[in-house]
Amino acid sequence: MTLEVFARALPKAELHLHLAGAVKAETFLKLARKNDVTLPPFGEVEELYHYDNLFDFLKIYDLVARSVVSADDFHLIAYEALAHVANAGGRYVEFFFSPQVHQDAGINYQTMFSGILKGMDDAEADFGVISRLIPAINRELTVDRAFEFLDRVLPFRSEKVIGIGLDYDEEPFPPAQFKPVYERAKKAGMRLTSHAGEGGPAANVRDALDLLSVERIDHGYRVIEDRALVRRCVDEGVAFTVCPSSTVILTHWRDLTAVDHPIRIMFEAGLKLVVCTDDPPMLQTDLAKEYRLLAETMSLDRRTLADLALNSLDAAWLDESTKRHWR
Ligand code: HPA
Ligand code: ZN
Repeated sequence: MTLEVFARALPKAELHLHLAGAVKAETFLKLARKNDVTLPPFGEVEELYHYDNLFDFLKIYDLVARSVVSADDFHLIAYEALAHVANAGGRYVEFFFSPQVHQDAGINYQTMFSGILKGMDDAEADFGVISRLIPAINRELTVDRAFEFLDRVLPFRSEKVIGIGLDYDEEPFPPAQFKPVYERAKKAGMRLTSHAGEGGPAANVRDALDLLSVERIDHGYRVIEDRALVRRCVDEGVAFTVCPSSTVILTHWRDLTAVDHPIRIMFEAGLKLVVCTDDPPMLQTDLAKEYRLLAETMSLDRRTLADLALNSLDAAWLDESTKRHWR
């Protein structure tokens, strides 16, 4: 069996995927034309997804999000995103979406949630892929807006809408200020995660753990700058959702074979890594490719890939009896 076939067949969970980042370029073009969203100049449709840093990426990400208007549009992108994960051997998905960008385009929360939740149901029926939704706060907006986000999102909390995340540009917007927002979400029964240590320092990883009480860290690469924190995260079994292609395209860690690539250092330090995609079509990848890339660039054997897939189940927000059934 080739590595490609093995990586695809391996049952695994996807825990770090942004819905707007999981829209195929063709679907983006179709929705943008239908909904009168002006696109930047491009030749081939794939050129819409050309960028080499997070700032430029997020501009296109917002444009994709603004192209999604009706409940049917939300249904379509959720359904297609989950089909794409299922095709890469993903059996269970916890995915983010960014309600505030849609809200600012005039879309109400009922429209967003009804379309996405129906897409999740239909993808489960058609592909057997089980999914859960994590609305994520845009940290670039204010803490007041984050509280407003909670007011709007918490009524939708359910078996399927299970937690909150924190994303967008981290460096100027560290986690600490969102402590009261996270406290309220936790009291309301939400599970908690946050992007940290992607553009910001190791202290942001510590603050996400200690101030926001997150249960996992999204990216977290700069944790390697603090050896004591690495040791603590190993001891506590903190899971990090790492996204290899995302580092190559959106960060300055462009070489996965480099001895100082943070994912390699994190792996060698014994941190619990969960391999994820971030934004699969926008980063020209899928979940199987991310596993294969790590195997090829870090010389991992198949047993190790299987262990990584088990990490993804371990770090999933599923109850223990469901996990036992899976294993
Ligand atoms: N970082 C921050 N925000 C994001 C990302 C990311 O990698 N992907 C989509 N939104
Ligand atoms: Zn992300």
